[in-house]
Amino acid sequence: MKKILFFVMIFALFSCENDDYIVLNPETSENQTYSLKTTIEPSELDSKLLAKLDSVTDGVGVSFFTLPNSDDYANIPQDPLNPITTEKVALGKLLFHETATGGNPTTASNLFTYSCASCHHAAAGFSAGIRQGIGEGGIGFGVKGESRIFNNTIAIADIDIQPIRSPTILNVAYQDVMLWNGQFGGTGTNEGTEANWTNIPENSLGFQGVEVQALKGQDVHRLLINKKFAKDFNYKKLFNKAFPDVPKEERYVRETAGLAIAAYERTVLPNQSPWQQWLKGDYTALTNKEKRGAKMFFGKAKCFKCHTGPALNDKKFYALGMGDFDDSNNAVVQDDTNFPDVKRGRGGFTNKPRDYYKFKTPTLYNLIDNGVFGHGGTFTSVRDIVEYKLNGIPENNEVPQERLHRLFTDVQDLTENQINNLVLFIENGLRDPNLSRYVPQTINSENCFPNSDAQSSIDLGCS
Ligand code: HEC
Ligand code: HEC
Repeated sequence: MKKILFFVMIFALFSCENDDYIVLNPETSENQTYSLKTTIEPSELDSKLLAKLDSVTDGVGVSFFTLPNSDDYANIPQDPLNPITTEKVALGKLLFHETATGGNPTTASNLFTYSCASCHHAAAGFSAGIRQGIGEGGIGFGVKGESRIFNNTIAIADIDIQPIRSPTILNVAYQDVMLWNGQFGGTGTNEGTEANWTNIPENSLGFQGVEVQALKGQDVHRLLINKKFAKDFNYKKLFNKAFPDVPKEERYVRETAGLAIAAYERTVLPNQSPWQQWLKGDYTALTNKEKRGAKMFFGKAKCFKCHTGPALNDKKFYALGMGDFDDSNNAVVQDDTNFPDVKRGRGGFTNKPRDYYKFKTPTLYNLIDNGVFGHGGTFTSVRDIVEYKLNGIPENNEVPQERLHRLFTDVQDLTENQINNLVLFIENGLRDPNLSRYVPQTINSENCFPNSDAQSSIDLGCS
């Protein structure tokens, strides 16, 4: 009753002046936008775009591309072995950012200075904001991760870096397998790859990729979540709420932490992006240029052939001849048994020549927040990558011509103006401006986050 009164008051206050207003929901402590607009009729351009979407989805139309709200758990794709609950999401949101999870460093002085979010933070659209993300052994943050560098008093072999670009965690709910080569995940797309799971026992537990990654990632990135962690940093209550049916001896462990992190990640959806608002009927959310760009995307430029569905990814793998990491330009490659044959992409995991050099189709939201693109981080602007696609000339000469996908080599001739619009659609139309709603205000340790090394603490305003 109180709540209804509260909303009635807000309506009364703002209805004359604003079409949209934001209200803090006291239950979820997240901002929610409410609209008072009466339905706006689609313009001729809107109608053309709507017709295009119908035609590329056999008449399904906008719902084929629409993301659910982040608290609409019933409509978020999830692992039947890990149903999403409010309590898991609340715990996972904190653990993902909690620098006190950095409890198993290779260099003792780095204790509690890094987290999952060191390489996946909101400021960079949940990527790293740098060509090669740095976990343990990194120094500094800058504004969106761009200033993080190696601590050069530590041997490079002891620094937590990976031989491939950190992807975003946005929209992971829309992929059943994780990593650029898709090796994490024990169902769906990975059926038939069981023989290659020797190093991934978590796949055999039958979990989907998001869950497998959240379990495995804690070991790879030197995190330590156990009973002592839960007690020392005041997380026991949250674990109790999230996992009331798990026996106490098994409640404060890597497994439950991984499930909570995965549940949270599944809710991290760019559903306030202009494109998503447009799909939901707010025809003013996109500019006319962005609408024309979208028409290209779903039409002449053929991007939708691979970038489709709510996340604009098709869960498949393709060879587009993009460059790999090399030892230059802010990246270092070292031998790592977790990554047997990075350059071969999907083929490095399946050992099948037909999968060689193929990488997973990425989602395309909030790209400019990150600023580094392609599995090897060889592109620094959306425009460069769009032109690369349209021109169909590979940058990586290690990839034999006959392995390149025909949709890549199939050149599309767009005018300068059409390319500009396509870039605007991706950069602005697909950018959710409010990702900070997925970041906690504080973490239970009260440490700095997503990093807490001395320089990051200064950069992040913690000290
Ligand atoms: C050192 C930086 C770093 C840290 C720390 C880190 N990640 Fe990642 N993450 C990466 C990189 C790099 C990849 C891609 C690896 C690959 O494809 O082989 C990745 C991949 C992922 C993916 C797969 C996304 C996709 O589309 O396939 C998810 C999900 C993810 N990380 C979540 C996490 C979680 C959860 C944690 C903490 C447990 C974590 N990451 C810690 C760098 C990092
Ligand atoms: C044949 C399938 C396919 C088509 C068609 C396609 N893409 Fe992609 N796209 C991919 C794959 C796969 C990658 C990742 C390749 C890699 O990193 O090696 C990618 C990467 C990208 C990226 C970089 C995203 C990131 O996070 O690194 C952008 C931007 C992009 N595509 C936009 C487009 C646009 C715009 C079009 C249409 C002109 C298009 N793509 C057409 C499959 C495709």
